[in-house]
Amino acid sequence: MRAIVCNAYGDPRDLVLTDVPAPSASAGEVIIQVEAAGLGYVDALHVRGGYQVKKPLPFIPGSEVAGLIIAIGSNVSPELMGQRVTALSSNGGLAEQIAVPATSCMQLPDGFSSDAAASALLNYCTGLYGLETCGQLRAGETVLVLGASGGVGLAAIDIAKGLGATVAAAASSDDKLASCRARGADLTVNYSQPDWRKTLETELAGRPLTVIYDPVGGAWSETAFRCLSPGGRHLVVGFAGGEIPRIPLNLPLLKRSSIVGVDWGGYVRNNSADATPVMQRLADLVSSGKITPRPTATYPLDEAPWALEQLMTRGNVGKPVIVFPH
Ligand SMILES: NC(=O)c1ccc[n+]([C@@H]2O[C@H](COP(=O)([O-])OP(=O)(O)OC[C@H]3O[C@@H](n4cnc5c(N)ncnc54)[C@H](OP(=O)(O)O)[C@@H]3O)[C@@H](O)[C@H]2O)c1
Repeated sequence: MRAIVCNAYGDPRDLVLTDVPAPSASAGEVIIQVEAAGLGYVDALHVRGGYQVKKPLPFIPGSEVAGLIIAIGSNVSPELMGQRVTALSSNGGLAEQIAVPATSCMQLPDGFSSDAAASALLNYCTGLYGLETCGQLRAGETVLVLGASGGVGLAAIDIAKGLGATVAAAASSDDKLASCRARGADLTVNYSQPDWRKTLETELAGRPLTVIYDPVGGAWSETAFRCLSPGGRHLVVGFAGGEIPRIPLNLPLLKRSSIVGVDWGGYVRNNSADATPVMQRLADLVSSGKITPRPTATYPLDEAPWALEQLMTRGNVGKPVIVFPH
């Protein structure tokens, strides 16, 4: 089968498209014929060898897929055979077939395409877990999303709107902000401008800002935190800006606000059963039309290195998805 293989840490453009043996299903596993694979910043970071935990070489990047179950191992319900599912894996997504534990598969609701599912699993589960479980977001509240035009950011806009919140989106260019508006953001602010805090406050027009969804970090985090209203929740999702912020602890005290860590992967690793209600909530919100996950761009497998490079250089908008002919 064809796969993108990382033989050495480095530039995503050095990744190679290779023929490798197809996987077989061990006990408890299924084989998915991959129809679509989502890409995120974290995949590019793994290829660079820049993630906290390095993946042993060689490896096939890609951690979220959607497709058809074509084989099952022992101890797997035969009913799974032939089902269309989406699944998270530690790697292996950029390949025509992947072996994953049967327990990590979620059956796709009717009308939910593989492209849409592969764009949704990680970012939407993180968003639902982050905004609802960690952030206790309620309808009528106002959320600021940083890095709002990225994959995690656009998903957060869609979810927050679906939950009845007002969304302020922050990104680095007017084009990116236009994508945020198209996804449903009510207010926008260009945070590459030095006085962006003032612009945000003008946009908010006295409306209390109670939740910040922050996948970027750097100096943006503290500026955003200073805009929170009392009782606010600053959700720490990631550090795509490359710098881990150090916020003085007098700020949460003065603001009577909390800083809450959002680690969807860690939450699920701690107890895999915790994933089920969140994934079910995702399926329900999709079925009811309250949220509408979709890829912003699709590419064939041989363009995956280029798509990963875009994620490292702030060149992308939203969630790129690799699609496989079937
Ligand atoms: N906690 C969790 O469970 C969880 C789950 C999924 C992802 N994440 C993390 O969330 C973060 C965002 O992931 P993503 O897939 O949404 O990435 P993405 O699509 O590349 O979006 C990240 C955004 O960050 C901004 N940014 C600022 N400085 C940047 C830089 N030096 N390099 C790249 N982007 C920069 C960019 O927007 P502007 O150009 O507008 O600034 C970009 O749109 C990553 O750190 C990822 O590891 C965490």
